[in-house]
Amino acid sequence: MSEYRDKKIVDSWLKNANPWIQTIENKEIESRQLVTNDAIIEATLRCQPKTVLDIGCGEGWLVRELVAKGIDCLGVDTVPEFIAYASKREGRFKILSYEELTPESLGEQFDALVCNFSLFGKNSVETLFDQASKMVTKRGAMIVQTLHPDSLIDQDFLVEGWRESSWVGFNKHFIDPPPWYYRTIESWRALFSGAGFSQVETIVPVNPKSKIPASIIFIGRMDD
Ligand SMILES: C[S@@+](CC[C@H](N)C(=O)[O-])C[C@H]1O[C@@H](n2cnc3c(N)ncnc32)[C@H](O)[C@@H]1O
Repeated sequence: MSEYRDKKIVDSWLKNANPWIQTIENKEIESRQLVTNDAIIEATLRCQPKTVLDIGCGEGWLVRELVAKGIDCLGVDTVPEFIAYASKREGRFKILSYEELTPESLGEQFDALVCNFSLFGKNSVETLFDQASKMVTKRGAMIVQTLHPDSLIDQDFLVEGWRESSWVGFNKHFIDPPPWYYRTIESWRALFSGAGFSQVETIVPVNPKSKIPASIIFIGRMDD
């Protein structure tokens, strides 16, 4: 069942690549402008990486920000339209799905793996975590920004599992919203520690307007 839903996520992004590019270019998501873009940049810089792999990079905004700060950054995504768009500007990009990410397919290791609102699957994410320790350099980091459990409001936030989503709040060009696999804070921590990132720090960026958590960021660090 979950493999079918993991595939539905990719199918949805294949259909919505164009509206997503416009949404990011036009800065239409207020919480990103107010808090979460800066939060993921700051979290990444705290790890002082010379090299970064941006996993599920979309149209490439974060790669461009990190390149501007002198970091060598590769962005990967499974949607060819995103990689074609991103490749016209700064940074290096490759078409690769999470399932295809291995030290061999990458041909290099990175000081930090960064996933910004891009890990919403079940098997696809577990497969990625299985490979993660081999993709980082010694004492490398894995950084994930995702939805805070408080954003579930009236749903059951104690139990992990598949949830439906919607494009409410997005422009009218989006279709077929992807399902997503909700993980509790404890289940995220278990993913990190199971992958060898035994020290896990969490950061909760707060929306300055609403005063509620805009996201949660996990920074996992490899043992020596
Ligand atoms: C919400 S967008 C975030 C994009 C980007 N990280 C950002 O901050 O704007 C989610 C991204 O995850 C990518 N994605 C989802 N499932 C994927 C998979 N199995 N393999 C590779 N990319 C995937 C989508 O194509 C999309 O670009």
